[in-house]
Parts: sequence; structure tokens; C-alpha cells
Amino acid sequence: MREHYLKNALDAVLGGKTVKVAAAETFGCTIRFREEAAAEAPITYAKHIAPIMQEYCQPCHRPGEVAPFSLLSYRDAFTWRKEIAKVVEARQMPPWKPVKGHGEFQGERRLTDEQIGMILKWVETGAPMGAPNDLPPPKQFNNDWALGEPDIIAEMPVEYEVGPTGDDEYRHFVIPTNFDQDVFVRAIDIQPGNRNPVHHVIVFLDTTGAARRLDAADPKPGYEAFGWPGFVPAGMLGGWAPGFSPSVLPDGTGYRLPKGADIVLQIHYYRTGKPEKDRTRVGIYLEKKPNPQPVGIAWLINPLFRIPAGAERHEVRAYWVAPRDVDVVAITPHMHLLGREMKVEAELPDGTKKTLVWINDWDFKWQDTYHYKTPVKLPRGTRVVVYAYYDNSEKNPNNPHKPPIDVTWGERTSDEMCLVFLHVVGEEGTGFRGGRRGGGGGFFRRSANP
Ligand code: HEC
Repeated sequence: MREHYLKNALDAVLGGKTVKVAAAETFGCTIRFREEAAAEAPITYAKHIAPIMQEYCQPCHRPGEVAPFSLLSYRDAFTWRKEIAKVVEARQMPPWKPVKGHGEFQGERRLTDEQIGMILKWVETGAPMGAPNDLPPPKQFNNDWALGEPDIIAEMPVEYEVGPTGDDEYRHFVIPTNFDQDVFVRAIDIQPGNRNPVHHVIVFLDTTGAARRLDAADPKPGYEAFGWPGFVPAGMLGGWAPGFSPSVLPDGTGYRLPKGADIVLQIHYYRTGKPEKDRTRVGIYLEKKPNPQPVGIAWLINPLFRIPAGAERHEVRAYWVAPRDVDVVAITPHMHLLGREMKVEAELPDGTKKTLVWINDWDFKWQDTYHYKTPVKLPRGTRVVVYAYYDNSEKNPNNPHKPPIDVTWGERTSDEMCLVFLHVVGEEGTGFRGGRRGGGGGFFRRSANP
């Protein structure tokens, strides 16, 4: 039974009565300060680590996804604990290239310092499981379509067989559409049929029938055209490379899919040393609101460079000037294997500077189209400058040439590019035509065009 010795004594004193119990023994109790308590509470998989794995690792680390091993269970995480500590501390995983504070993007895959600290501590203290009751329910992944059931599914007409050896293949597959008017695409989700041979996918649009003719002339399914689809596209809906996650354009906007256009999937296949089969498909989500605003793509491009053999930090620049006020909704930086760093900076007419994206540790394997959380407004006359840096020395482990040779613009992986797509809200034409002017330039046509 509890006795309120102190209260009784005080009441007695205040009431002028005798104090019945004037002294009592206590066991004493430790005063625990918050930090101390936290330091003592063990970091467990069940309580602290599983939620991080679910949110930041399992999207790729589960069967059938891009990562080479699964991290669905405690056992998995325990097995990989040392490597996990290493890659999260180095911020190598989850893969997310844009430097913090230079553009706010949707779906950022970035652990907080606190989360990283927790993982390190967990590994240091023996990676305990903790109480199974603390485990969060398993995360449900939509293995089919991350954005829900698409409005249209565009699938390769037949399975394609990729031979075991030889040069990389750039195969193009034509998928007709049958809309009776132009429609607007707010998002696409590309699902490679077989992630082993598929290096990248780009979705082009053709309104000229050229792709169909090329297809008819090639005896195998689809047709071969190295790097370039072999016609001037009427647009581009997006692309896929390992790590891509589908993003959505702002409400009331979309990429135009012209009436009667053919969808042309460009698939860059690797050879894996054994025969592979692929049948890639694309889920297409339409903007349903009336009169959506089209989103076009401005190309910031510099095809006129030569990166000397041995150069460790060769700079290439490209420029683009906004011909009117534009809202930038997304950005796609692109280089190949010599690329090390790319910074895209907007110089506004009032003199302020805004970094649109900065990648200071370029990795050809982890490319993405980064969609802004809120569109970035660039007033007319804003000058956008691309600063790209290439390492063509022997020290670059990704250098495809041993020994290094001078490298110029080209479509092969072993050539280079200096290219940024700015996805901007607004209609085609009107002032957006430019040209590949020497050393810079950049241009814009309806949707995404060469
Ligand atoms: C977007 C997909 C993706 C996400 C998200 C992701 N990984 Fe990975 N991970 C990969 C791929 C792919 C590889 C294979 C190596 C490579 O291609 O870089 C990999 C490799 C690894 C490796 C082995 C690294 C090595 O050097 O061998 C570890 C460990 C790892 N991931 C841990 C994690 C952890 C922990 C998380 C979450 C905090 C995570 N990954 C999130 C895709 C992902």
C-alpha cells in the first residue's frame, strides 16, 4: 500500500497536529536525464531500423528489383550490416545524386544525419533484433504500378531476344496509338521486362510514319539505329535507367501525345554473356482536366567539345536563355562515363543566381529526371549555364579507353555528351526556336525534340 508520508506530515504541521511519521526510509531513485536515457536504450532492428529499411532500401532491395540482394528481413539486414554501415555513412546508398540545398526535388532518397547515426550505432552494438512486437507491419509494394493502374499500357508487340555477346544494341520498338485527338501525359512508368540486359529506355513519339518504315525494313522485331531513333521525334515522354522512379507533372499539365502518334521505345541492351529475353512495357497516365498546359523540353546542349586525353578536369559549358517567363518542372542532366560533375545555374535578370541542380559525384549508373517539388520560375531573359567537368585521365576508373584518347560528342557510351533537358511548362514554338550555335546554344521545340 502506498503511504503519502510527506503529504501527511505537511498536512499535520499546517493543521497544528502531531506528525505521526517524522522519518521514512526511501530506496532512492536515479534521476535519468533524457540524453542518458536515450543512450542506454538499445537501437533495435524492430523498432528503429526496420522502418528505415522499408522506406529507403526495400524499394530496390527486394526480389525482382534492381539491387543485387534483398533487405526485406532482419536476417538480410544482419547479414549485410557491415556493408550497410559503410554505404550509408558514405551516402552511397540510398543512391541520390543531387547535392542537398541545390534544388528541392520530389521523392528525394536521402537519409537524415540522425538516421545514419542510428544505423551506425545499431551495427556497432551488435545489430540486435529487439522485440518482435516492435516490428512495423511489412511494407506493401505495388509490384505492378507504383502510381496505380495506368490509363494505357504500351507494350512491346513481341518478346525480343538479346544475343549473349557482341556490341551493345540500340533497338527501337514501334507501338501505335489510336486516340482521336491529342492527349496529355502527366506521368509514365517504364517497366523493363528483364533488368539484366536493359541499360536504358527512352520513349519517343513519331508522327511521320518513319519508325514504322524502319521497322518494316528490319527482319527482326523492331529496328536497330545507333543512339538516335532514326527520325526527328515529335516528342519524348521520358525515360528509364536503373534507379528511376516515376514522377508526376504538376496538376493541369502534361507532355503532348499527338493524335495518331506512334510510341517508339528506344531500348539500349547490354550483352550479359547469355541469351536474354525482354518485353518492356510503359504505363501511361493522362491528364484528365480540360485544356492542360503542354510541357515542353528545352535542350541545353554543347556538342562541340574535345576532351583531351589525360585531362583530369576538363570544363565544358552550355548556355540557354529563357525566351519568356517559364516554369521549370523538371531537369535531366546527362553525361557519359568521363563526366564527374555537373552544375546548372540560372542567372536571373536581376542578378540573383539559383542552382537548378548540382551533381558533384556523377555516376553514369544513377541518372534520373529530377522533378521539382514546386516549379522553379525563371523570368524571361534568365541565362542558364551548364558547367560540366570530365576526367579523361587514367585515374578515372570508368574511363572506357585505356590508355585515354581524345573524346568528343557521340552517341556511344564511350563517347561523351554535355546535355541537360529542362522540362518547362508552356506551348511550343514562339521564340523557343534557337539553334546549335557554336559552343553553346540550346533550343526548344514542341515537347522534346532534337
Ligand atoms: C534506387 C535503388 C536502390 C535503393 C533505394 C537502395 N539501393 Fe542499395 N543498391 C542498389 C543497387 C543497384 C546496388 C548494386 C551496386 C550498384 O549498382 O551501385 C546496390 C548495392 C548496395 C550495397 C552493396 C554495395 C557494394 O559496394 O557492394 C549495399 C550494402 C546496399 N546497396 C545497401 C543499401 C541500403 C542500406 C539502402 C537503404 C538505406 C539501399 N541500399 C537503398 C540499389 C538501391
